[in-house]
Amino acid sequence: MQQRIFSGVQPTGNIHIGNYLGAFRNWVKLQDEYDAIYCIVDLHAMTTDYDPGELEKTRIETAKVLLALGVDPDRSLLYTQSQVPGHAELAWILSTMTPMGVLNRMTQFKEKTAAGASSNLGLYSYPVLMAADILLHRANLVPVGDDQRQHIEVTRDLAERFNNKFGDVFPIPEAHVPERSARVMSLTDPHAKMSKSDPQPKSRVLLLDESDVIRKRIRSAVTDSDPEVRYDTAAKPGISNLLEIMSACTGSPIDSLVDEYAAGGYGRFKDAVADAVIAELAPAKERFVALENGDVRDVLREGGMRANEMAETYQSEVRAAVGLKAF
Ligand code: TYM
Repeated sequence: MQQRIFSGVQPTGNIHIGNYLGAFRNWVKLQDEYDAIYCIVDLHAMTTDYDPGELEKTRIETAKVLLALGVDPDRSLLYTQSQVPGHAELAWILSTMTPMGVLNRMTQFKEKTAAGASSNLGLYSYPVLMAADILLHRANLVPVGDDQRQHIEVTRDLAERFNNKFGDVFPIPEAHVPERSARVMSLTDPHAKMSKSDPQPKSRVLLLDESDVIRKRIRSAVTDSDPEVRYDTAAKPGISNLLEIMSACTGSPIDSLVDEYAAGGYGRFKDAVADAVIAELAPAKERFVALENGDVRDVLREGGMRANEMAETYQSEVRAAVGLKAF
């Protein structure tokens, strides 16, 4: 049987090149090799402070970005999480076998609450819902950026606990992380990952940014005072990050980029990085403008119905396994 991949994105706006290079590029690539399911995880987006009208808008915008990047509804399934009640139901079932100690170790919860997010129960149990997303569809592979590894470990752990207790229901999924640019760093602080929620817009390049904004952001990226372009994440984290971004966008190995740009100064190098990013994003930006919101809604409605049918079949197996078979 064809292997299944599943992945998700929070519709919180500010989709950036980290999301693209760490995850979405693989989503598009892998839809030809796998049975692919992609989900706009709107229930997850409710775990931090949000505005309902804004969520409505960003759900559509996120889907539109994914379609513009090349997620193809004829080759993969795209839908929003809230249309499929099985996610929340399975999350509840899995939560009954999640030790508190596992959740206490989650770095994302610690980071988000340290940054000022309210420490609500939904944010705390976020990894359980994420495990449910993946296991609901019996996924084998989960294409994500490096920051999601810990959550995938929890998913594997919960799948094993469930299978040991109730029988062999879930495949044990694996993370699929790109070799390069699995963790694109912030342009204002190369020690922190590029993030949608960073209060500084200068810290990231958005997929829908105009070309002159992209160039400005990359020109102002924090680097160091030694003008040699060289890959060294400890001594030159800012330049190393730009090298990774450029290598991912052009396909040129980092070594040959270093050969080409080692001398000549940071200005010339940064302009070349900006050119590479602008060229990489241009086709998707053009497709984005051409897409109609009505058509995007149709894709999501259709995707939601199909995903729900599949999830219902799978969930009846889970219900039976845990002693909740329908009468
Ligand atoms: P989210 O919405 O934060 O990010 C979407 C995807 O982008 C990747 N990513 C990055 N990759 C490289 N460098 C970065 N700076 C960077 N920032 C983000 C993320 O790794 C992710 O793959 N918890 C998930 C959403 C989710 C999910 C799931 C993912 C919910 N359920 C089930 C996979 C499977 C999240 O918040 O992603």
